[in-house]
Amino acid sequence: MTEKKRILSGMRPTGPLHLGNFLGALSNWVEMQDSYDCFFFIADWHALTSDYENTDFISKFIKEMMIDWLSVGLTPKKSTLFVQSLVKETAELYLLLSMITPVPWLERNPTYKDQIVQLNNKDLSTFGFLGYPVLQAADIIMYKANGVPVGVDQVPHVEITREIARRFNYLYGDVFPEPEAILTETPKILGIDRRKMSKSYDNAIFMSDSPDEISTKVARMITDPQRARRSDPGNPDVCNVFSFHKLYTDPDTVAEIDSQCRTAKIGCVECKKIMARNLIKALEPVREKRQYYEARMDLVEDIIREGSNGARAVAQKTMEEVRAAVKI
Ligand code: TRP
Repeated sequence: MTEKKRILSGMRPTGPLHLGNFLGALSNWVEMQDSYDCFFFIADWHALTSDYENTDFISKFIKEMMIDWLSVGLTPKKSTLFVQSLVKETAELYLLLSMITPVPWLERNPTYKDQIVQLNNKDLSTFGFLGYPVLQAADIIMYKANGVPVGVDQVPHVEITREIARRFNYLYGDVFPEPEAILTETPKILGIDRRKMSKSYDNAIFMSDSPDEISTKVARMITDPQRARRSDPGNPDVCNVFSFHKLYTDPDTVAEIDSQCRTAKIGCVECKKIMARNLIKALEPVREKRQYYEARMDLVEDIIREGSNGARAVAQKTMEEVRAAVKI
């Protein structure tokens, strides 16, 4: 049997996960568990790079994120699930990598430049924020990951990671493989206001929403903006509700809705009701699992601790090699 390739990815614990996070990342991770040796972690140190002023919620968000993960099907039986800050070795590797990383590599990072502009309500002129990709490189190469499943926005970070790994190997000898970003096609769904689904836009459907909350949000969803009256024919191609139907409704019904919408035989209210029902049903098993874990917080804490112990064992081995290579 050939060894499974190792992949690693992380998420910052900045709040509950929504459907966009699930479809864009988590659902892939869940599937990859069967074909890769998977390391998934909660990047709490990374959350500090932009939210260092208010750390009150971070430990709550970590636990909630683990519950989100477990309830969609990530499992410690298949993957190493852990918390970044519980593996202190990462801080040491980060420090060593910071010695060899040229500052211009960080300053020209497109994500950095973009975030400085976008998050102009925060003071991001910190050393930690500039060094974000160095910490991310430490996360990735610590476990000698071959692949990093991420969204396009993270590709520059994986690219910097490759450059840092190459530079380390050049200076001290071959220790690290160069990881590759793994991009997967993900279905595009928008928030209920048709903007990108985002917690900060208040337009998200969360994995933890109750059936009532889902119904209310779906009822508020903006459909085809051109369809002002019930009697107007609609265009499913531009309708966000229809995008959801394609994911959660059976193909025959989707085809029927498509034609009925175009001929104004079905109205948006009814169409949304069908979709909400199917979405609620699809999320039913997730909701059940969530309730299971919410009632067993000590189990969640055990999973976090044991996963982090497993990750630490790997990290300690890597660090022995690293110290030997750096001669320190
Ligand atoms: N930067 C990633 C994000 O914002 C989170 C992250 C931190 C990460 N370390 C990582 C992702 C290592 C992949 C690999 O989503």
